[in-house]
Amino acid sequence: MHKIAVLPGDGIGKEIVPVAVEVIKAIAKKYSHEFEFKEALIGGAAYDETGHPLPDETLELCKDSDAVLLGAVGGEKWDSLPVHLRPEVGALLPLRKELGLYANLRPVRVFPVLADASTLKPEVVADLDMLVVRELTGGLYFGEKKKEEIESGYRVIDTLVYTTQEIDRVIRLAFELAKNRKKKLTSVDKANVLETSRHWRERATALADEYPEVELNHMYVDNCAMQFVRWPKQFDVVVTENMFGDILTDLAAQLTGSIGMLPSASIGGKVILYEPIHGSAPDIAGKDIANPLATVLSAALMLRVSFNMGEEAQVIESAVTEVLNEGYRTADIMQDGMKQVGTKEMGELVLKKIL
Ligand code: IPM
Ligand code: MG
Repeated sequence: MHKIAVLPGDGIGKEIVPVAVEVIKAIAKKYSHEFEFKEALIGGAAYDETGHPLPDETLELCKDSDAVLLGAVGGEKWDSLPVHLRPEVGALLPLRKELGLYANLRPVRVFPVLADASTLKPEVVADLDMLVVRELTGGLYFGEKKKEEIESGYRVIDTLVYTTQEIDRVIRLAFELAKNRKKKLTSVDKANVLETSRHWRERATALADEYPEVELNHMYVDNCAMQFVRWPKQFDVVVTENMFGDILTDLAAQLTGSIGMLPSASIGGKVILYEPIHGSAPDIAGKDIANPLATVLSAALMLRVSFNMGEEAQVIESAVTEVLNEGYRTADIMQDGMKQVGTKEMGELVLKKIL
């Protein structure tokens, strides 16, 4: 029995997660697997119900599961709460930290039929297949924060901290992943300015000796942003610190046509967390128009990585490909001549291909 914690969260999370759960259930039926789904509150929804965005029960459930499927958290309604109670800082970041998920894998693949859904020229993105490894539990998002009143207003501080150990473990992981791909690793930093980045670069260079089969290069983050849109196919595996990875992966998502297409897996601890890289999109929540495919593809990633079900994962990915090939699109990837469908209908189309 595989135990899956299901955390829909806020906004469109509540619409897309059920779609992915149905997809896993269809796979279970087809292959006679047993999954146990247990749902818990997280984010604003949890705050409204319990007074905290990450209730103890939710954390316990996650720790006690084999894998976690998360939708998204946050929304305007909770933006004015004290920072430690906000869904992002009070729930998502501590959940990653508590589960020891120090690396976030964000594969960026362009479905052939979506090559011209990107705002970039199709030849720039067609067949793109790269992997961004984002450090997830250190850096600026976890350093000490302060807001002090001074005469002219405030003095506000965020702290960017990394230890050698935190840097090494994520870079090693990226080298390992590169070994099984095209053996090219780009380490992204801002070593011309930041101390943390200078150490990051030193460590990447030192660790490269242990991976002679992988070709390592370094790139400044500002240049990397430009290279992502100029010629993304130069990249295989990219490894970078938390905030750079956050920003670069939104950028990378657009290469695939829509941020609604990008799954992710956060690893490092006993339990792996799977989530789409997009947010809760309050502006389109509750309208049945959100793209559920990033979450469906996150479910495929779960089957492959957590449960060693490569064939089953492939069945989901092929189902998504077929549905796209037949011209079905959610609003975010809609183009002339295609058939626009909503969240639920997209889910049903994928399900039909699986059964
Ligand atoms: C992401 C999101 C989160 C992050 C936010 C919601 C805290 O943008 O998963 O990329 O920055 O990690
Ligand atoms: Mg982000």
